[in-house]
Amino acid sequence: MKLVIIANRIPLTIRGTDPLTFVRSPGGLVSGIDAFIKKANISNRVWIGWAGSHVKKKDVEKIKTTLEEEQNCIPIYIPEKLMDKFYNGFSNKTLWPLFHNMPTFASYKQDEWQAYQDTNKLFFKAFVDNVEVDKDTYIWIHDYHLMLLPSMVREFYPDAKIGFFLHIPFPPPETFMQLPWRKEILDGLLGADVVGFHTYEYTMNFLRSASRVLGVEHSMGEIVYSGRMIKVDTFPMGIDIDIFNLKDEKIDSQVVSIKEILHHKKIIFSVDRLDYTKGVYNRLLAYEDLLKRREDFRGRVVLILNVVPSRESVEHYQRMKRQIEEKVAEINGFFGCVEWVPILYHYKSLPVNELISHYRACDVILVTPIKDGMNLVAKEFVASRQDLKGVLILSEFAGASKELGEALIVNPNSIEELSKAIETALDMPEDEQGFRLKAMQERLRRYDILRWGNDFVNSIKEVSSKREALKTKELTNRLIRKLKEIFNNSKKRLILLDYDGTLVPISRNPNAAIPTEELIYALNKLGSIENTNVVIISGRKKDWLEKWFKHLPISLIAEHGCLIKSPGESWEAKCCLNQEMREKIKNIMESYVDKLPQAFLEEKDFTLAFHYRNADQEMASLRVAELVDELGSLIANTELNILMGNKVVEIRPASINKGTTAVSLCQDCDFIMAMGDDVTDEDMFKALPQKSITIKVGTGPSFARYYIPSQKNALEILNALVEDY
Ligand code: UDP
Ligand code: G6P
Repeated sequence: MKLVIIANRIPLTIRGTDPLTFVRSPGGLVSGIDAFIKKANISNRVWIGWAGSHVKKKDVEKIKTTLEEEQNCIPIYIPEKLMDKFYNGFSNKTLWPLFHNMPTFASYKQDEWQAYQDTNKLFFKAFVDNVEVDKDTYIWIHDYHLMLLPSMVREFYPDAKIGFFLHIPFPPPETFMQLPWRKEILDGLLGADVVGFHTYEYTMNFLRSASRVLGVEHSMGEIVYSGRMIKVDTFPMGIDIDIFNLKDEKIDSQVVSIKEILHHKKIIFSVDRLDYTKGVYNRLLAYEDLLKRREDFRGRVVLILNVVPSRESVEHYQRMKRQIEEKVAEINGFFGCVEWVPILYHYKSLPVNELISHYRACDVILVTPIKDGMNLVAKEFVASRQDLKGVLILSEFAGASKELGEALIVNPNSIEELSKAIETALDMPEDEQGFRLKAMQERLRRYDILRWGNDFVNSIKEVSSKREALKTKELTNRLIRKLKEIFNNSKKRLILLDYDGTLVPISRNPNAAIPTEELIYALNKLGSIENTNVVIISGRKKDWLEKWFKHLPISLIAEHGCLIKSPGESWEAKCCLNQEMREKIKNIMESYVDKLPQAFLEEKDFTLAFHYRNADQEMASLRVAELVDELGSLIANTELNILMGNKVVEIRPASINKGTTAVSLCQDCDFIMAMGDDVTDEDMFKALPQKSITIKVGTGPSFARYYIPSQKNALEILNALVEDY
């Protein structure tokens, strides 16, 4: 396997170019992927990303050679102005607040969106220029900076194995929909084979947004989009336990010295990047409240507040820093004295060893973000405490809270709750600390960073194998030529064509799905060929079919077979529907139209259909289940049955379906071809003689022998058949 990681940052950020010096890049993304690569021992790999603002254009080639050879990294040069709009602008002033469900902080600027698109293209170019893609290449794109990249890569390499993982939350659809470029972002992401999130909540938010914005539905997390299957799934990122539970004398002595310097006072530890999502300010308010309420803690506790510099060019971050520093000064000024400073504040990044020493030296750690994709600090603390001492106070809005339920879980917006939690933590008996930590440690061991990475990569593998398998069924140009040959050499031909979703794309408004001139031309020509019975076999009403196709030399079948019309003849009914029963069905369906906005009733001659393609899909799933239940009791023991189509519930005569109807037309035919896209067409694919050429439009499981990706291909087939006539 060759693994290509593409993320905004490479794991090293350049600090100076002469001589070349670098530091580890900040954040959980780098920690996680770096740990996975090392743990899984993936030597055949490359990591493409930005190397920091110290890199000037003239230095890039020199740096590239060194980094590529020594670190398997390919640094990308991004001009300063572009980076400003892309990184400080669209990534961190639009996407970051919006995706953390803080839409009031988000700004929407056209020039920054443009910079986002341009920068994604730069990453694409760097990828194409530097990586050779083969069957064994796995392309893993990361995070909110690069959400357009999966589709760019897909377009260039249609068969590539591509995964995308989002390290931050995905917001609820109501929030996501506020983004003016929501469609483009989803379209970009769906270029991947697998789209992964930290929690089930984010996964569901994504699926619900895709349904609302693009109208695509999922089945067990699988979406079919642009003729491809995409898996959307949850992969909670873990850590490398061995790094954090390591026995090390240097760390031991650091722990001792931290405790000694603080005269063995109780230590509360807090460490995060400077970020308004991390809830540092509320933490300070809670600590202040605690010191006010519990005078006995004064002089006995110390808060070590470590803030890691981050995104300092964004005003909101600068403001946050000022607020934090002012509050620290206020608390220290008010409560502090010569012998005791309540808060030890540091504005710097700690190297991993020092971080572990702090995890081990503290009595309580405060991880209380207002919103956080995962939060690795919480997990790292738990793994560090092999002594089974210490208490984790964790926000319910950190992704990590889904796995670390034994922590003291708090709502970070309640200062009172936070302050009480610190009190409870400081007073917690050691045996309780121990069993809480133990349970969490076991869970972290089971789903560690290796498992996370392997699960993700295996998921890409599975999806791409399915795609390969499907390819064997694809009706390629070569097969179409063969099909044409058989067609030309046959004596009696039957061509069955579903309409919606097969000859034209599905439309939100069925009346808008009208045939194109090109389609009419092809049908006319095909129907005029001698001994060729061309049939449109549809669930639509006879009047609609007649309006568009009456003048063509083709047969029409309406309502899945209830009504049939040969060219130039009148309609023939194949069933009947009792009037009283019809009224009852209509009443029930109408009551659900009232309960589900945007749903509508379609009354046909022999069938009644309840359409819900335009309704809110979540609400629909509930209402439709109720409707089906009610209709089911009504039609039990009758000649009717319920048909669940593509966002439509239909009641129709049980004896009639596209399968029985299609078979009745097959007699003496030596060429039978059927095309369709929906569940009703599966009846046809199943029932037709084995030699028939059955074609499904779109991927997904089917009884058809072949598949084609879209309606465009269906028209191409018709055009190919008429070519010689
Ligand atoms: N970290 C670090 N030094 C510090 C503070 C944090 O190396 O002084 C690392 C920490 O070990 C963790 C990562 O930075 O792996 C932070 O990840 P997290 O998911 O908690 O937050 P993010 O910064 O990604 O929002
Ligand atoms: C979060 C994001 C990462 C980002 C990190 C550090 O973890 O999910 O993509 O790299 O923060 O932020 P920065 O803006 O410094 O890269």
